[in-house]
Amino acid sequence: MRHLLDFQGWTKAQVENLLDTARVMAEVLERPVKKVPALQGFTVATVFFEPSTRTRISFELAARRMSADVVSFAAQASSLQKGESYKDTLLTLEAMGIDAYIIRADSAGVPHQATRWVKGVVVNGGDGRRAHPTQALLDAYTLLEALGTLEGRKIAIVGDILHSRVARSNVELLPLLGAEVWVAGPPTLLPQSLPGARLTPHLDEALAEADAVMVLRLQKERMEAGLIHLQDYIAHYQVTEARLKKAKPGAFLLHPGPMNRDIELEGTLADSERSLVNRQVRNGVAVRMAVLYHLLVGRER
Ligand code: CP
Repeated sequence: MRHLLDFQGWTKAQVENLLDTARVMAEVLERPVKKVPALQGFTVATVFFEPSTRTRISFELAARRMSADVVSFAAQASSLQKGESYKDTLLTLEAMGIDAYIIRADSAGVPHQATRWVKGVVVNGGDGRRAHPTQALLDAYTLLEALGTLEGRKIAIVGDILHSRVARSNVELLPLLGAEVWVAGPPTLLPQSLPGARLTPHLDEALAEADAVMVLRLQKERMEAGLIHLQDYIAHYQVTEARLKKAKPGAFLLHPGPMNRDIELEGTLADSERSLVNRQVRNGVAVRMAVLYHLLVGRER
């Protein structure tokens, strides 16, 4: 792979190869000195035109754990505020010798366009509602850690599917690994179709006998006014202890974060033993180390 934009054209073997590398990176992160020289001499830029906590920090840690130099572009403190375009911003960074760009943008396709502007490798750190491939990779990694295999497993993704790049990337990735993916949400927050997934407005149908449930945030910043009534949403779609009884006993819970506690997910469940939320965050570093390693030095492998 030259860049990581989405999973179009990916094979199961490629995904498994990348996740194998992530497992090796996870071992590095268990050592007393959590650092290897694999990316010495490379410079990685995190270019986030939209806010982030997890993705930006874990990419920066991932690069540093492999001895790369890291520059962090802060949109609010940049010349974007003076009207500079995304393209000129990236060309400016390119002139300073960046090898890899992690790009997050509010509109779909910006990372894809960036591959035409810069010579370095581009990783999509989330573009609009289109794709968030490293989130899906860390979700798959975490699910495999918990379930052993995704072959024949039922994974329910619930909540604001319409605005979710996390849902789209997981619906591309998880079936490649053998999972049956169901997505559920209110009719106003479901897309017309989502190839690779079974869509339903009935939460219980998606939860029934699920091995794991991925709960998504209501993305108020992308939502038109009146799309949902919050109290109705909580009454009918919040994932609660009682509703989770439909799923397999001990079914795992995931959430990509950030979370609206007690809106899409009962707060106590987020902190319960079945919650994999902190493992997702922890695994994100190892998975992003693997992505950077494959793109920058491991292309022939
Ligand atoms: N899951 C995720 O992308 O979180 P951030 O927006 O904090 O990066």
